[in-house]
Amino acid sequence: MRCMSVVIEPFRIKAVEPLRFTTREQRERALRDAGYNVFGLKARDVIIDLLTDSGTGAMSAAQWGVLMQGDESYAGSRSFERFENVVRDLTGYKHIIPTHQGRAAERILFHSALQPGDIAINNIHFDTTRANVEYEGAEARDLVIAEGRLPSFLHPFKGNMNLTALEHVLRDEGDRVRMVMMTVTNNSGGGQPVSLENLRAVREIAHRYGKPFFLDACRFAENAWFIKTREEGQGDRTPKEIAQEMFRLADGALMSAKKDGLANIGGFLALNDDLLAERCRNMLILTEGFPTYGGLAGYDLEAIAQGLEEVLEEDYLRYRIRTVEYLGECLQAAGIPIVVPTGGHAVYIDAAATLPHIPALEFPGVALANALFVEGGVRACEIGSVMFGADDKAAGMELVRLAMPRRLYTQSHIDYVGEVAAQVKRVAHTLRGYRIVSAPKVLRHFTARFEEIEAKTFA
Ligand code: F0G
Repeated sequence: MRCMSVVIEPFRIKAVEPLRFTTREQRERALRDAGYNVFGLKARDVIIDLLTDSGTGAMSAAQWGVLMQGDESYAGSRSFERFENVVRDLTGYKHIIPTHQGRAAERILFHSALQPGDIAINNIHFDTTRANVEYEGAEARDLVIAEGRLPSFLHPFKGNMNLTALEHVLRDEGDRVRMVMMTVTNNSGGGQPVSLENLRAVREIAHRYGKPFFLDACRFAENAWFIKTREEGQGDRTPKEIAQEMFRLADGALMSAKKDGLANIGGFLALNDDLLAERCRNMLILTEGFPTYGGLAGYDLEAIAQGLEEVLEEDYLRYRIRTVEYLGECLQAAGIPIVVPTGGHAVYIDAAATLPHIPALEFPGVALANALFVEGGVRACEIGSVMFGADDKAAGMELVRLAMPRRLYTQSHIDYVGEVAAQVKRVAHTLRGYRIVSAPKVLRHFTARFEEIEAKTFA
């Protein structure tokens, strides 16, 4: 029975990992050595690491326990049977294909399904998803609702697809559209959920035009919790029942188990189409491994199977979504504008509104992420014109994502991040923009190097 209002961690801690504290001088040096790109930092120089929620969470005692039961047989292992049973029960799909992480599933699906010139539709493609579509010579088209691109606009399902735009693209360019996908929750747009009503409508439209409908499902459980708590008529259902319906509305799914699989590595591709599944399995054998392990160890399959069950527990999801909301409240209290409502796995700072004196193509998100690191050793991630822009093209939103690893940090860690954010807010007007010194052609945000733009002097 719950009678207190505070939402506490639904676990206690069995093993701890020490944090290393650094001085401001050490952090300034580390950032300079990293080319002013937080992806280049050594993790030991970071105090609170909110770079990503991917693969960075804490496993449960039960997950560590099942690692010992991993069956490392090359073919037909018991661990694969368990994994397949759990994924099939959850998703209902016929073919369950394990991969070493989400982007491997992306590459295999897109390589098997897309031709040059095709269009793949999504609410918003995430970075590797877009890059893998484009790598096949196809076009990645984002059709999220307009509200989904307005950081300060409140809407319960900002990840929803714009149904009118979807209908128009299918009507006008339908012969080029190869698939319709929905990212749940919508990572690039603030970790925002998609409603069941919208999923049903997208399914109906896609099928009416004869197009397959897939989920990019890595945060399916968080999305299910938002449906339970925000969508009319869903409050009495379990997160699992809602998640099962979400998957059954689609024809297949890509999954990075590093998020709502509560595992440190892993993923899968699951689908119903026999022919497509055969093509995908052949690609899997070529580049990942035999279809009953797909680039994973038997013990990874065990940890994912266990994680997929734990992630749907109501006490876990209530705590999970509340911690992210709490981080958002701490940032707002510090005077920092964020994407509202807060998402499922992360809080997204509106860097353009925080640093209005830095133009988009001088990367306010990089300036802000770097300031969070220098002021307090907090590592966050730019989701703006470095990630999604090009040489002379801005991305549309300049965000900095503070992603919460699952079950890893406590409330006082979050309070500390709030204090660091308040300090960044105090010095915000002194921060300067950046220019790119070197960058690769694809996915430049991971390895680009920057330099600070000198302060303008008015003589
Ligand atoms: N799809 C979405 C929506 C993602 O957020 C990610 C990864 C992937 C696919 C690819 O999965 O990393 O297992 O290959 N997102 C991480 C992040 C990296 O930081 O948001 P992966």
